[in-house]
Amino acid sequence: MIFSQVELAPADPILGLTDAFKADTRKGKVNLGVGIYKDESGLTPILRSVKLAEEKLLSSEKSKSYLGIEGVEAYNRVVQELLFGATHDVVTAKRALTAQAPGGTGSLRVAAEFLVRNTESKTIWVSNPTWANHQNIFKSAGLAIKQYRYYQAETHGKDFEAMLEDLKTAKAGDLVLLHGCCHNPTGIDLTEQEWHTIADLCLSQGLVPLFDFAYQGFGAGVDEDAQGLRIVAAKVPELLIANSFSKNFGLYNERIGAVTLVGDTTESVTKAFSQVKSTIRGNYSNPPAHGALIVSTILGDDELKQLWESELSEMRERIAQMRSLFVESLKHEGVTQDFSFISSQNGMFSFSGLSKAQVTQLKDEHAVYIVGSGRISVAGMTKENMPVICKAIAAVL
Ligand code: LMR
Repeated sequence: MIFSQVELAPADPILGLTDAFKADTRKGKVNLGVGIYKDESGLTPILRSVKLAEEKLLSSEKSKSYLGIEGVEAYNRVVQELLFGATHDVVTAKRALTAQAPGGTGSLRVAAEFLVRNTESKTIWVSNPTWANHQNIFKSAGLAIKQYRYYQAETHGKDFEAMLEDLKTAKAGDLVLLHGCCHNPTGIDLTEQEWHTIADLCLSQGLVPLFDFAYQGFGAGVDEDAQGLRIVAAKVPELLIANSFSKNFGLYNERIGAVTLVGDTTESVTKAFSQVKSTIRGNYSNPPAHGALIVSTILGDDELKQLWESELSEMRERIAQMRSLFVESLKHEGVTQDFSFISSQNGMFSFSGLSKAQVTQLKDEHAVYIVGSGRISVAGMTKENMPVICKAIAAVL
């Protein structure tokens, strides 16, 4: 017998909450754990642009034959345009190559495994805190993990000086995980000037940025949110990007993302990319088509693209409204503690500063689920559930 020797794995800090939430029989329970967008009626909608693209695909698709290892070609092209803009040097100089991959997680995993198998870069620096799955992905791929300071609990803000101080101790060839926008879990991003400073630091120390870019369009806009990536890509000769369309196209269960390599020359990136393909072949051979075809159909059609952009703005604006309403409603429930910092955070999440004990109390006594770090998914708030959430928070403070 071999299975009896296997230790029980701890519940996943984010997806484990969804399991616990589903099993909870209490009325009025609220799940603000996992980052999933909900509309005002509490549903996770399929975007109209997605439905229209799917209708088009259903009538025009002629074959279900295998894709190439790197996936749908047209998709990989539009991914690069979305990331860098059509006129960025890495695109026009053909210094970037992209492979479709299963969601942000799959893209990060492919990137990490490619690095471990083929390069001397075996250490990755991640922010403290970072997305709960980063450590899991990178450890599984064989990377050693180090942390750089990022968040300052006392100010509910960023500690950029500490971030620099820590990264200055990194060695040439070390990887630096950077959140492209809407930092998960804090919602606190780098400013334009800070991006330049980080790019210069990576350049002078020979550090290799790996961007996790899962929320493009959820901060300030599609191009605005890519500012940091574009600044770094203009200065640093080699980097990697793992991006996801789970959130901005609402394609969560299609598992659609991409891994992009940027190299200093077309020749070097082409050689390296052959090993990315080999990594993919050894994992899942080649990717599934549907999600990529949806994205490339939308981005390849002016009308559908416009519709998608307006739907994305709608999601972004609703989250921003919920952010303000959240701050107001806490006051309304008599909370005197200052939560105004929540208004300046970006993306789906609010890093509340609630303690582990308060998070547990919220779940046990009020059926309100948030991540153990105190991260709250603002994207799951509605006008209807807001009073329940704020009353519960007021009660545990
Ligand atoms: C999250 O952080 O909630 C999302 O990225 C979903 C996930 O897989 O954890």
